[in-house]
Amino acid sequence: MNTIEIGVKINGESKRWTIAPGDLLLDVLRREGYYGVKRGCESGECGACTVLLDGKAINSCVMFAAQADGCELLTIEGLAQGDTLDPLQEAFLERGAVQCGYCTPGMILNARAFLAHQPNPTEDEVRDLLAGNLCRCTGYVKPVEAVLAAAEACRRNAKERER
Ligand code: FES
Ligand code: FES
Repeated sequence: MNTIEIGVKINGESKRWTIAPGDLLLDVLRREGYYGVKRGCESGECGACTVLLDGKAINSCVMFAAQADGCELLTIEGLAQGDTLDPLQEAFLERGAVQCGYCTPGMILNARAFLAHQPNPTEDEVRDLLAGNLCRCTGYVKPVEAVLAAAEACRRNAKERER
């Protein structure tokens, strides 16, 4: 089998991976132990496999791993800073927005990329955003509340840092 080597920075660490040219990014990430990247529809519909690629939320099931060569990746495993959870992780826990948790990494990473560009979203904007992350458990009320609460916490933290 033909193989190629790619280099990525993932969750702050530089890695080199040997892959087949046709390997999907989802398969390579899980093979490398990033089990927070979930396998759902495998057709770009459910958002369970969402990761950040150079800060942008992408569905890793519809992307070749070779396309990530030279890029920076973030999975849910890399979101907390040591023992300090990201405000989105805290808000999802505090608001009871996690039930089975299968959709949660994708939702949180999708929201993380979104809040970087829209720190003060409306509820409708958050609902539109999360429409790309299918959840069979929560009915979306709690995740939407959690994203809005995290956005508020991020704005508060930013103000405190300015002082
Ligand atoms: S598994 Fe990738 S979008 Fe569903
Ligand atoms: S919490 Fe179970 S699928 Fe979303």
